[in-house]
Amino acid sequence: MQFDSFELSKIAGAFLSAFLVIVGFKVALEIAEHGKAPEKPGYVLPMPEATPAAAPAGGAAAPAAPTFDAKAVAEAAGAGNAPNGQKIFGKCQACHSIDPGGPNKVGPNLAGVVGRAKASHAGFNYSDAMKAKGGNWTLEDLAGFIHNPKGNVPGTKMLFPGIADPGDLGDLLAYLNSVK
Ligand code: HEC
Repeated sequence: MQFDSFELSKIAGAFLSAFLVIVGFKVALEIAEHGKAPEKPGYVLPMPEATPAAAPAGGAAAPAAPTFDAKAVAEAAGAGNAPNGQKIFGKCQACHSIDPGGPNKVGPNLAGVVGRAKASHAGFNYSDAMKAKGGNWTLEDLAGFIHNPKGNVPGTKMLFPGIADPGDLGDLLAYLNSVK
């Protein structure tokens, strides 16, 4: 028996249509299968966790910020790194000179500020809030004030956000303490 090309394409066509029927049947089966409600969805879309804003009113408050311990910072200042503190004092220099006998700028001269009476530097016009503080600048009081000026002395004229890092603050106090 001899096949000419016409015969061949007929045979090929027959195979192809058989194949299509099988595939078609399989697809139909799958569609039928999937039509049933799946017991478990194939995958779950990640749902966003409840955002804090969506938390129920009166619900859990945001975690409290770690409390700042001025006393611990003052104690650490004894072993503080004064040369590093001098670098950090760069943030203060726009407003404060620290060389003994140096001028008042936007803020008072800070030479010997540790142990000095608050709001006492000659020739500087302190805010009423600072004048009302009273007492001498202890390391602990300085730590509290420099960490958060506005929070520590509400109404202060010192417009500075504060030094947040306790380690940096300890070093800065060591430096302030070294300039008499
Ligand atoms: C933008 C200017 C500014 C910057 C920056 C600034 N201060 Fe002051 N500071 C002031 C002013 C103004 C006052 C006076 C505050 C008052 O009378 O309420 C003051 C007051 C003080 C006092 C009290 C002095 C006293 O004689 O009672 C200390 C201590 C002090 N500053 C430390 C610092 C340190 C340390 C830094 C840097 C970490 C700093 N300040 C950065 C403006 C500034």
